[in-house]
Amino acid sequence: MILLEQISKSYAGGKVKAVSGLDMRVKPGEIFGFIGPNGAGKTTTIKMITGVLRPDEGRVVIDGIDMGQDPIGAKGRIGYVPDSHDAYDRLTGTEYLDFIGSVYGVPLEERRARAETYLNLFELAGAAGDLVRSYSHGMKQKLLLTGALLHDPPLLLLDEPMVGLDPKAALLLKQEMRARCDRGRTVFFSTHVLEVAEKLCDRIGIIYGGKLIAVGTLAELRSGDAGASLEAMFFELTERGGRDAG
Ligand SMILES: Nc1ncnc2c1ncn2[C@@H]1O[C@H](COP(=O)(O)OP(=O)(O)O)[C@@H](O)[C@H]1O
Ligand SMILES: [Mg+2]
Repeated sequence: MILLEQISKSYAGGKVKAVSGLDMRVKPGEIFGFIGPNGAGKTTTIKMITGVLRPDEGRVVIDGIDMGQDPIGAKGRIGYVPDSHDAYDRLTGTEYLDFIGSVYGVPLEERRARAETYLNLFELAGAAGDLVRSYSHGMKQKLLLTGALLHDPPLLLLDEPMVGLDPKAALLLKQEMRARCDRGRTVFFSTHVLEVAEKLCDRIGIIYGGKLIAVGTLAELRSGDAGASLEAMFFELTERGGRDAG
């Protein structure tokens, strides 16, 4: 579902290498957790997967469609929730959802039905007529999630989705992620909260210093050390990664 071939990205005219030579595959029907400390390169990688950023080098393929060659086709397969929600403040929740639904060409009936389902699920229906500006971070997060689900995308990409969600909303989101994967849909999300990744993911990738330093199921990452927590592995791997890099 996601194929990344040797993608790299630097900022500030090449001075900051955010992601270097990243190779990764995410299979259909899996929940893939992308974990790493702050500044590791998670958001930069996600923006390259969504086509928001163009890689300096390498190739991104979504559901068999090359992002560089057919960006509109590739982006149509994706529902994306970024980590910051600054835009759209002048719209109401309903206006925002109508806008997103029309961008993705979702038929009106279908759009309204899905919007209603998720607004009710996330207990946001009462605020749908209010300006997004008046929403809390968690409410914006729920609205963007609803928008990302309107076209029932094969791939849901979430950057730090649990930040700002109350425990009930976080649980609903986790259930929705699992339900999608049971239908063969794919979910890719980043987090720096290890417990979330540990409980939810089919496979995990660990990024550190712009490089993918480990990838696999929790069992594969543990490789022998059956009792190891993801936290212990994470610190071992990132310390080792730091030494190798230094
Ligand atoms: N627009 C930007 N300009 C310059 N440097 C950036 C920019 N965005 C991110 N970076 C740098 O790139 C690196 C990776 O950042 P990011 O992808 O946001 O990591 P993460 O999401 O894992 O916290 C960090 O060193 C960050 O400071
Ligand atoms: Mg980030």
